[in-house]
Amino acid sequence: MARRKIIAGNWKMNMTPSEAKELVATLKPLVNNPDVDVVYGVPAVDITTVVEAVKGTNVQVAAENMYFEEKGAYTGEIAPAMLVDAGVKYVILGHSERRGYFGETSEDVNKKILKCFEHGLTPIMCCGESLEQREQGITMDWIRMQVKIGFQGVTADQAKTAVIAYEPIWAIGTGKTATADQAEEVCKGIRECIAEMYDTDTAEAIRIQYGGSMKAANCKELLAKPDIDGGLIGGASLKPEFAEIVNYNK
Ligand code: 13P
Repeated sequence: MARRKIIAGNWKMNMTPSEAKELVATLKPLVNNPDVDVVYGVPAVDITTVVEAVKGTNVQVAAENMYFEEKGAYTGEIAPAMLVDAGVKYVILGHSERRGYFGETSEDVNKKILKCFEHGLTPIMCCGESLEQREQGITMDWIRMQVKIGFQGVTADQAKTAVIAYEPIWAIGTGKTATADQAEEVCKGIRECIAEMYDTDTAEAIRIQYGGSMKAANCKELLAKPDIDGGLIGGASLKPEFAEIVNYNK
């Protein structure tokens, strides 16, 4: 069965609610590809505005983080039920910026992924190596570890619906994209890891995105690779260029 492409924006810490409303309105007539699942990953404070603004389109909304407890004394955190009630469908988890700046571990990411499934949310789990790790030749070892810890306790049926985003840290926000061959090599390696952990059916079903300076100019080549099922897009998701990526096959 062919996997549906999934193109997601990760707005990161950009866009006030008023700016978010404007951006969604700008993208609305342009983002229109029935072959692709489109997701806007937006700051928590923008979620309500964006969910409202995308009504009547096929765009879904993602949160950029979530806590793994149900509720209670966790000042500043956001519970899964809050996201569900607000209309969120996906949650970006374990982005390298969260791991690097906020000390998130793969164990934290695992707890969050399990919570997502309990609440019917789809996790987009990010993984990726630093430049140093790539140069040391441990890219795949590192990513296999991130995937194996992140998916501890996740069932095959759950894993089939999940999304993994391969984002080499050295390619994020740097303008340096992994070549399509480099990206394919790792995405294929992730699929093999899932096949070892589960089975080939699960590996064939799970969707694996590439992220890291993906833009209109390079998306076609990346998305043509057999194991790259979509993109997680930072900078270019804040501009009309995002629509060109969504419409990559037009
Ligand atoms: P850029 O597209 O800005 O490189 O960001 C990629 C990213 O981190 C998406 O999560």
